Parts: sequence; C-alpha cells; structure tokens
Amino acid sequence: MDELRVGFIGTGRISDLHAIEYLANKRARITAVCDANLEIAQARGAAWGVPPDRIFASYHDLLALSEVDLVEILLPHHLHYQATLDAAQAGKHISLQKPMALSVAEADAMIAAAKDAGVIFKVFENFIFYPPVQRAKALIEAGEIGDPLTIRIKSNAASSPNEWQVPHSALAWRFNQQECGGGPLVFDDGHHKFSLAWHFMGLADEVHAWIGETEIAPGFIIDSPAIVSWKFPGNRYGSLEVVRSSDMILDTAHYAQDDRIEITGTKGVIWITRGHGKMMDVPPVVMYRDQRTFTYSDMPVGWEHSFINSTRHFIDAFFKGEPPSLTAWEGREILRFALAAQESARGGHAVSLRNEGGER
Ligand SMILES: NC(=O)c1ccc[n+]([C@@H]2O[C@H](COP(=O)([O-])OP(=O)(O)OC[C@H]3O[C@@H](n4cnc5c(N)ncnc54)[C@H](O)[C@@H]3O)[C@@H](O)[C@H]2O)c1
Repeated sequence: MDELRVGFIGTGRISDLHAIEYLANKRARITAVCDANLEIAQARGAAWGVPPDRIFASYHDLLALSEVDLVEILLPHHLHYQATLDAAQAGKHISLQKPMALSVAEADAMIAAAKDAGVIFKVFENFIFYPPVQRAKALIEAGEIGDPLTIRIKSNAASSPNEWQVPHSALAWRFNQQECGGGPLVFDDGHHKFSLAWHFMGLADEVHAWIGETEIAPGFIIDSPAIVSWKFPGNRYGSLEVVRSSDMILDTAHYAQDDRIEITGTKGVIWITRGHGKMMDVPPVVMYRDQRTFTYSDMPVGWEHSFINSTRHFIDAFFKGEPPSLTAWEGREILRFALAAQESARGGHAVSLRNEGGER
C-alpha cells in the first residue's frame, strides 16, 4: 500500500484541522466522509474533494467501503466506544479523538476489539506535537535543565471577539455529563494537559483535585476554577490550574483559551509561554540556566501546526510500521488519570493510580 485512504466519521468543528495534513500529504487521501448532519458532511466533503457518492449520514455506509483503510473518529465522547468497535469489526485502522471513552472498562474493550481485528488503534493527541512543546522536549532531552522535577500547567479560558465559530450543537454535548464524561475544561480539554504532563514526566501515581463549578449561562455549568495536583514516582510533582475569567478578552484564532507550562529541572527552568491563544507577548519558549536566559522563537506557533504535526507523525509511523503516539494504551492511561482526578474531586481525597494494569 502506498496511499493511506482515510474516512472521516464526524465532520464537525475540529475536522477542519484534521483535514489539513491529509489534504497536503502525498501518501494520504480523504476518500469518504460522514456526519449525522448530512449538510455538514456534504459541505466538508465538497471542500475536500470527496466524490458525492462517498458522503454519508451513517458511518455504517462509510465502514462498508473497501476504499477506506483508516477512519478518523471525530464524534462526541459517548459515541467513541461503539464507533470504535464497529470500525474494528469492519477491519479499519482507527485514529480516535480524545478522550477515547467514558470509562476504563470501555477503553479496555476497545483495545481488545482492535487487537482481535488486527487493526492499528491510536488516540489522536495534538498538544504534544505543538512546535513550542516539541522544542521544549528536545531541550529537556538534551539535558539543558537537568532532570525534570516538577511540571506546572496553567490554562486560562475567557471569551474573544475573534475566536472561531463553535456551533451550539458542539457545546451542548460538552455540557452534558453523560455525553462528555466530565466537565469541558478539566475532563475534556484537561486530557490534553494530562497528556503533556505524561509526555514530559511519565505516568503519575497519585492525584488530588479540587474542581469548582461556575454557571456561565442558565443551565451551563463550567468546571472552573480548578486545581489538579499529582505525584510522579521518584519525588516529582505536577499541577494543572484551570480558570475561566468572565470578563477577560483573549486574542485567538481558535478557542478563547491559552496555556502556559513551566518545567523545573535540577539545573534550570523551561517555560512554554503560549497555546492556542496569544496572551503574552514573549517568545514561545524561554529557558533559564546558569545565570542566563535563552529564548526560542524560530518555530511556527499557530495551533493548527499541532494537528498537522500529529497527523504527519501518524502517516510516517503507519508506513514505517512503527507505533503511533498516542498508542491506544497510552490514551487509556491518560483517560485513567483524568477519571481519577474526577473521582478525587468528588470524594475530596487523593486517588492512587498505582497497581492497576491491564493488557498492553
Ligand atoms: N484535539 C483537540 O484539540 C480537540 C479540539 C476539539 C475537539 N476535539 C475532539 O474531537 C471530537 C469532536 O469534537 P468537535 O468539537 O468537532 O464536535 P462537534 O460537535 O463539532 O462535531 C461532532 C460531529 O459528530 C456528528 N455526529 C453526532 N453523532 C453522529 C453519528 N452517530 N454519526 C455520525 N456523525 C455524528 C455531529 O453531527 C457533529 O457534526 C471530540 O472527541 C472532541 O473531544 C479535540
């Protein structure tokens, strides 16, 4: 096989950013799309050059096509489980958006189904492919700040006159616990922040969370302010603070949110100063070491590059026969952490993540 033929299941808000690299990469092609909202599927399918007879409202029609090797599953969270089982049964390789499922039991069944079917199953994660994150990771791997001891992640949510348009339908399921699996900031978006912590520091073994609630519109409760703190093996620690400011205006081309990361090592500190917003007018990566401050600006900072790099990595890994990042197992471990944080906040106590395994 010299071309990866991709079918999109769900062509909602985020599908635009998934399509960019598939449309540009000579070794991949979008051959079919589907969305329960057929109008959206038709609009995106036409923009991506998909023939009209390969645009569907039901994903079962797409799964029946022999000219689809891989499916990108971009559905609300409560639909990830069944769609993944159906895709595996149809013999399709699977790239699934995060969080992979609503429970670890579901995740385990999905991993088993993919294994039985002999298909590749990855969980799509883009934040670890954001160019400033990649630069910080390279600096740390080169030993520039010594051994990392702590990671501190801060996420600001606000509003913005220039944020991209998110349809009401894409918000409605995110504020429904049964469909989203948790709150939009700490569970849904938090998955990315927990992936970053894993990427830099490995898996945590204990978590303690306080997750506040704020009503931002009648019936819309957001999980903010919140603090999640955790412990890695070997006397190392991490934290995530999430806060939505009702009257703050952000500059952004995507969601009205921005993130910062600070990693402290035995020799120095690295800051990643931005995410998808543009809060601070400073270089995207800053490092302090040996009485000197180093800055790094020679990289793209648009958030779409995290998607482009993630998809490019996957296409490369696919043709080399190498494991993708995230593997389904890694996605499962990050889901386990995110669910433990929810449990901690509900119970008001730390939750241990040790001594739980499963089949890799
Ligand atoms: N990586 C990131 O940074 C990032 C950002 C946003 C969203 N996401 C993830 O992407 C996924 C989709 O999010 P979104 O923002 O695009 O949501 P969305 O609501 O805009 O899109 C979901 C689409 O699924 C369609 N759909 C619903 N049920 C269906 C069914 N049974 N069959 C076919 N189509 C169906 C809807 O009509 C909708 O168009 C979620 O898992 C979300 O967490 C990831």
